[in-house]
Amino acid sequence: MTVANQKGGVGKTTTTVNVAAGLAMAGLNVLVIDNDPQGNASTALGVEHRSGTPSVYEVLVEGAPMSESVQQCPDIPTLWCVPATIDLSGAEIELVSLVSRETRLRRALDVYLQEREASPEGRIDYVLVDCPPSLGLLTVNAFVTGREVLIPIQCEYYALEGLSQLLKTIDMIKAHLNPTLHVSTILLTMYDGRTNLAQQVAQEVRTHFPEQTLRTTVPRSVRISEAPSHGQTVMTYDPGSTGALAYLEAAREVTERDPALRGAPSQTTTATNEQQGETR
Ligand SMILES: Nc1ncnc2c1ncn2[C@@H]1O[C@H](COP(=O)(O)OP(=O)(O)O)[C@@H](O)[C@H]1O
Ligand SMILES: [Mg+2]
Repeated sequence: MTVANQKGGVGKTTTTVNVAAGLAMAGLNVLVIDNDPQGNASTALGVEHRSGTPSVYEVLVEGAPMSESVQQCPDIPTLWCVPATIDLSGAEIELVSLVSRETRLRRALDVYLQEREASPEGRIDYVLVDCPPSLGLLTVNAFVTGREVLIPIQCEYYALEGLSQLLKTIDMIKAHLNPTLHVSTILLTMYDGRTNLAQQVAQEVRTHFPEQTLRTTVPRSVRISEAPSHGQTVMTYDPGSTGALAYLEAAREVTERDPALRGAPSQTTTATNEQQGETR
């Protein structure tokens, strides 16, 4: 799953690490690829990402095997991360002149996933790729790598602006580079049900994307924003908080919709934390 939205601060990284943690805590083997030079996902997962640490930069630009940069997350043993270091900030330009510049991440991941199939640690069930807030070559590599796109949308006024550009880019990648790519999942983040605006934005998103939008919305939560400063996801930092429970539920919805993991359809879906009157 490629977690993308070219807007900054909408909850991409928070969604990547917490959905990944939710999946991993359910017993799945999960890999997070931090594909943003800011390295926020690496920070939140508590993995080393000082300049010079083997990272996604070496994979993308130097063609290093991904296995050399994968780190196990300290808090959740079934969660692994390919970190991003500050070195990645030059990659956008360095990639331009390299061969197969759009498919380098994909190729490296394919090899790594093959290796994992045969390894004692076992196969990887989910890969989540965190993207920078732009539609450059780093994001293109992430789109070529993924099968699905997860778009976090912040429930605020400009939420839908820029979305058509994002969808156009995804269509272009689908047509030319990755036929399986599609927007499978939209998650409403930083939802504050006390404001009419948040409810209106949520309603509008659900009207446009009824299939893709998860029933769960992620509330604004101080615990979610505190967790990264402790090198943790909110799932381990404060597992009982509203934010952790929302992300756990979002992760459960993701697995429920996955044909590979789906058992009998579940009737036990929990209510959303949006206010009454919100159409599901
Ligand atoms: N549900 C939430 N409640 C409170 N703060 C949040 C929530 N989701 C994200 N944040 C905070 O908002 C900021 C932007 O989120 P982030 O996930 O880094 O966005 P992006 O990766 O899209 O730039 C971060 O400081 C993060 O801790
Ligand atoms: Mg981010």
